Amino acid sequence: MKLLMAANWKMYKSQQEASLTLRDLVKRIGTLPADREVAVFAPFTALEASSNAVEGLPGFRVGGQNCYPAKEGAFTGEISPDMLRHCGCTWVLTGHSERRSLMGESNDFIGEKTAFALNEGLDVVLCVGETLQERDSGQLGIVLTRQLETGLAGVPSDILPERLAVAYEPVWAIGTGRVAGPAEIIASHALIREFLERRFPSQGKEIRILYGGSVKPENAGEIIALDNVNGVLVGGASLLAENFSRIVLA
Ligand code: PGA
Repeated sequence: MKLLMAANWKMYKSQQEASLTLRDLVKRIGTLPADREVAVFAPFTALEASSNAVEGLPGFRVGGQNCYPAKEGAFTGEISPDMLRHCGCTWVLTGHSERRSLMGESNDFIGEKTAFALNEGLDVVLCVGETLQERDSGQLGIVLTRQLETGLAGVPSDILPERLAVAYEPVWAIGTGRVAGPAEIIASHALIREFLERRFPSQGKEIRILYGGSVKPENAGEIIALDNVNGVLVGGASLLAENFSRIVLA
């Protein structure tokens, strides 16, 4: 299984900035180690520029940060999986905590998007994670299980394992500089792995589980060495090629 080193650029970067950052990143990385893949989740307007910048480079792929679960229609402001594919995307994120909290996306809606995007040929990183209040009140297991059950409800049981990844992103660790400790990461990833093995008996072991939340060049190596950590999803520290290249090679 290859490690998936993913960048979430959120609402940052023009087309030109995206393209310059990726060209710089590719130069700094040189030959991507055979055990790694890179995915860059760029804003919609920079997807085409981003996919042009990594075209033909093995192991580098581009993804959208969101999509709407319909082929086309009167959905002002939304984008379909097919439109993402036409901009060169092979991945899409679903369930990022910023969409759950700022846009009010429900587990059911996230599940609909996940199943629809997979069916339309995109690979999906489903993001899950608890708030500090949920953790402090002993709800971690319940919250993660509900997000996984509903988020993956429509995924066919014969899904190819490399087409699906789950990112564990504790909400209290996103953009806060407060990374989850090794014991916290190991416990949550073990819970997610058990769920995946139950839900997908023949390939649950092979589905990648990424950690996200204040990953930096200084802590990435330690994090990817933990049990059941098969990559990272990086926000702030992915914006500069210098930082993200060090994470990709950690
Ligand atoms: P962060 O964001 O690395 O800035 O904490 C992670 C994410 O939101 O995916």
